[in-house]
Amino acid sequence: MPTYVTTPIYYVNALPHLGHAYTTIVADTYSRFRRLCGDEVRFQTGTDEHGEKIAEAAAKAGETPRAYVDRIAAAFRETWPHLAIRPDYIIRTTDADHIRTVQDILQQVYDRDDIYFSEYSGLYCKGCERFLTEKELVDGKCPDHLVEPKPITEQNYFFRMSRYQDWLIDHIRANPDFITPERYRNEVLSFLSEPLEDLCISRPTSRLTWGIPLPFDANFVTYVWFDALINYLTGIGYPDGPDFTRYWAAAEHVIAKDILKPHAIYWPTMLRAMGLEPYQRLHVHGYWNVDATKMSKSLGNVVRPRELVETYGVDTVRYFVLREMSFGLDASFSGDAILARHNADLANDLGNLFSRSLAMIDKYEGGRVPERPSGGTLTPDDRELMSAMSAMVAEYREHMDGFAFHRALQAVWEVIGLLNRYIVANAPWELAKHPRQADRLRTVLAFLAEALWKITLVLGPVMPETATRMAAALGMGERFAAAVIDDAVIWGSIPAGTVIGKVGPLFPRVEHKTEPAAAAKQPVKQEAVAGPGEGLIGIDQFKAVDLRVAEIVAAEKVAKSDRLLKLTVQAPEERTIVAGLAQYYNPEALVGQKVIIVANLKPAKLMGIPSQGMVLAAKEQLADGTERLVVATVAGPAAAGSRVA
Ligand code: MSP
Repeated sequence: MPTYVTTPIYYVNALPHLGHAYTTIVADTYSRFRRLCGDEVRFQTGTDEHGEKIAEAAAKAGETPRAYVDRIAAAFRETWPHLAIRPDYIIRTTDADHIRTVQDILQQVYDRDDIYFSEYSGLYCKGCERFLTEKELVDGKCPDHLVEPKPITEQNYFFRMSRYQDWLIDHIRANPDFITPERYRNEVLSFLSEPLEDLCISRPTSRLTWGIPLPFDANFVTYVWFDALINYLTGIGYPDGPDFTRYWAAAEHVIAKDILKPHAIYWPTMLRAMGLEPYQRLHVHGYWNVDATKMSKSLGNVVRPRELVETYGVDTVRYFVLREMSFGLDASFSGDAILARHNADLANDLGNLFSRSLAMIDKYEGGRVPERPSGGTLTPDDRELMSAMSAMVAEYREHMDGFAFHRALQAVWEVIGLLNRYIVANAPWELAKHPRQADRLRTVLAFLAEALWKITLVLGPVMPETATRMAAALGMGERFAAAVIDDAVIWGSIPAGTVIGKVGPLFPRVEHKTEPAAAAKQPVKQEAVAGPGEGLIGIDQFKAVDLRVAEIVAAEKVAKSDRLLKLTVQAPEERTIVAGLAQYYNPEALVGQKVIIVANLKPAKLMGIPSQGMVLAAKEQLADGTERLVVATVAGPAAAGSRVA
């Protein structure tokens, strides 16, 4: 099946930042995912180079518009490989074929009497490059650019957008997936409940010359949005290129909420006026803020993707943005948050799992994936692992298809956790000591290799470089290049006898002066007990942990977190503990409970809240693949603060 994935074409008045990187990483990841599902994908990004904003930025930089746009467009183009983003085509609106296409379309729409000449007065926001309605203003200002729009009266050409209003409403209503997530679909429908005005699509050359001349009046250039949206057609060879019909029918646009209106209203009505079908789906995401404030040049908090890649590596950046943002909602970037994900989720959970598993196959099986002994009985652990793996692949597919990347990754990390527990529970280093257990050891190691190969496959779209290294280390490098998602479904897709290779740490730890969130996550990880023969601790190590009875006196949900609860406990002195219990307990149910805490854990900050300690809880894996967490409590009347030993 063909799939056509696009990003917005970015204005060249600013250098690429985290926001541009996010949308493009999303589109790249989704493209790779669709390829893994067997689709033929065309993925396009590009730059939007005409209009007032660009002309002004060029003048400010003391350059001609041409020299200026060439320079910034190159900066965008050069950024993508650093983020492992591989578009099939990068379009520029200053390309000759695009200019021709825009002019052909304008002439065609004009000939159909959908463009007319008239005088207009309105409030113009240069930042948005469009007229705003009174209703859109907040305190008389554009809510996005925080400036008062300029009243402008001029003669211009107009597109009869209002003609298509009813058709558009019907189309959105009949196609629930046309604009997602739903909140944006609702926003568009609500906007369309008022009469739609026609769209001004020209600028007089007396005011602006940096644009595409109207084919029917040389005194005007094309309005930048009418020009820009057409990139999605030019890039696939509209009207008669071989790829046009093939890919247009399968177009999926990815944008942020700032440009919802042009994509959800101008664009479908323009397509209708051209006699074309609308795109398939519009995926709208929220905004990245930085430390909970708007990212802006004037605040000096603009996050540059290449700097992040230098510190953390490309796959940490890709994983972080996809895991951290719920697609559709705003998210906040912070150095602590990416560091915590890097060290906890990647270096610890995934990296350690991978290297210790390979080390064990190397040590006990001479570096070959063992044959699973025939007739050997599977333990409940093995069965649980098998069913959790297939549940994960199903969930992953569903969520990737629905642009819920954070959920897809959550599902993958659940099984990574399960695998780490599988190792601890089966202790291959113990099995290796007893020749009678050789078959069991082989089964465990074969299961680990199989599970890691499946994880490699599903991580491919998100973390292409790491997955390539993992595949090579698993001896599956060649297979990986042509892999399909079904390889992750079938059990037994890594052949016995496959020679595994060596791999250095997948994610070398990144140290940081203030590493609170990461520090807070590590101690709860079971894999701290690590590799072969290292499963036991001495009494001194145990005694170093100060376990205490603590009474929970208050509990509340942590804002913007679906995982965390803020607990106030007495042990016997009062302290705050932030615990990952929100998915398992209502806060009220915990108040009054006497739980066991680790009282001498280094303080850490979670979502900005200082946490002093950790609550112990049992994690149970349920038959349906989900987990249940039960806090450890004391049965008898132990006073708060009593030492547990
Ligand atoms: N040129 C137009 C788009 C024309 S598409 C036919 C434009 N360009 S832009 O450079 O301003 O890019 C806007 C897009 O950049 C957003 O829709 C989003 O994809 C990305 N982002 C820019 N800042 C962002 C954040 N702070 N957070 C998330 N994405 C953001 O509009």
